[in-house]
Amino acid sequence: MSNATRILAVDDSRSTLEVIKRNLQPEGYEVYTSESVDEALPLLDSLEIDLVITDYRMPRATGMDLIKHVRANHPDVEIMMITGYPSIPGAVEAIKDGAGEYLAKPFTTEELLSAVERIMERLERRRVLSSPDTPPDNFGIIGNSPEMDSVFQRIGKASATNANVLIQGDSGTGKELVARAVHYNSDRRAASFIPVNCTAIPDSLVESELFGHVKGAFTGAKDARAGFFEVAHGGSIFLDEIGDASPTMQAKLLRVIQSKEFTKVGSSRVHTVDTRILAATHKDLKTMVAEGSFREDLYYRINVVDIPVPPLSERGDDILALVNYFLVRFSKAMHRMPPTLSDEVLQALRNHTWPGNVRELENLIQRIVVIVDHDPIEITDLPDSMRFSLPKEGSVNRSLAEVEYEHINNVLTMTRDNKTRAAEILGINRKTLREKLKRMETMTGISK
Ligand SMILES: Nc1ncnc2c1ncn2[C@@H]1O[C@H](COP(=O)(O)OP(=O)(O)OP(=O)(O)O)[C@@H](O)[C@H]1O
Ligand SMILES: [Mg+2]
Repeated sequence: MSNATRILAVDDSRSTLEVIKRNLQPEGYEVYTSESVDEALPLLDSLEIDLVITDYRMPRATGMDLIKHVRANHPDVEIMMITGYPSIPGAVEAIKDGAGEYLAKPFTTEELLSAVERIMERLERRRVLSSPDTPPDNFGIIGNSPEMDSVFQRIGKASATNANVLIQGDSGTGKELVARAVHYNSDRRAASFIPVNCTAIPDSLVESELFGHVKGAFTGAKDARAGFFEVAHGGSIFLDEIGDASPTMQAKLLRVIQSKEFTKVGSSRVHTVDTRILAATHKDLKTMVAEGSFREDLYYRINVVDIPVPPLSERGDDILALVNYFLVRFSKAMHRMPPTLSDEVLQALRNHTWPGNVRELENLIQRIVVIVDHDPIEITDLPDSMRFSLPKEGSVNRSLAEVEYEHINNVLTMTRDNKTRAAEILGINRKTLREKLKRMETMTGISK
């Protein structure tokens, strides 16, 4: 069966049925007709009807009888009542018994269409609300593929222990999400999850950033400051991009992990620390160990449980599940109904290789929800790189704002949301980028 909305019209007047059909079919609705309630009941059971439009007065069973039957047996089906004998009490009765709309004959095409549209909006809203954002048990991470199943299993196992965890996977695959899932499903959830970006800390600051310093420890140390390990006490510390940690940083990390002790810069007092190490990298640490660029002893300390996160292209239909998830999420943020995607678009999304993984997909869907204002989304709405045989006019039929927004999104994907790097590539300063993002945010309600 197709995905079109199915409407069943029930009226003893054949000409009314004709009018309904002639007006609704060109709008893309599948319209079935029936001249009596008796005839309508089997259709209701066999077809997945979304909306019943029924006459009030009919010989034998009436529209009211049909409404009662639908309410009792098909609670999700919407109902619209029409009648040639407009009577307010009838309307009240019909609406009380579950008709969503009430239309008096003769009605204009306009009246019919807008009543149907109002019902469709309600139907759509109900569907969105009843589809949960995140399936339970999966730590808020979307995916049903066997590849993700083993990720979920490992998260479950790791959460139940205190073992250090190494999360390896390409850029944008969801490593940080996995790290958070481990922390928030463990006994440590009440204490902090502290992310540390190992790339961002220069050697001269490693010690004070990791362990803190006392007042006056060095020039500029006007006040005492706690380090990452101190604030992660009782919780988890997330060493992101551990493959980029300098030899100095690797040495300091190894010491604190081995001894569970540290001293602050400028002090000789020894602090003990109880924190679980969650480390992530898109680099192949094993090869780095073999090449001598990553310490083997540190590697074994952090790689007690390993959680490999597969690239998106290996997750089969998870792509579509993620597409739906992001469509709903970004549409909700903009108080809109999620748009539908044409079959061609779905095919293109399935065929794409997703070098930027889930982050690339997330940015793409966000862009679509923000920029495209027609439904369904067509192949020409996708970025040029994703269209195989693209019609020429599609690519030039865009406003500057669209192209700019798309390009900013792509650069952010490539730089893994690193705004400093993105601004460099875009040839604008961070402030300008921030302003552009801010404008996008006021326009869309979505912050980057
Ligand atoms: N399975 C998923 N379900 C829902 N959202 C996801 C999923 N995987 C990733 N995301 C989202 O995709 C984006 C990228 O994920 P995340 O930051 O965890 O990736 P990463 O592997 O740490 O990337 P990088 O290596 O670039 O740091 C985030 O916004 C995250 O919420
Ligand atoms: Mg990350």
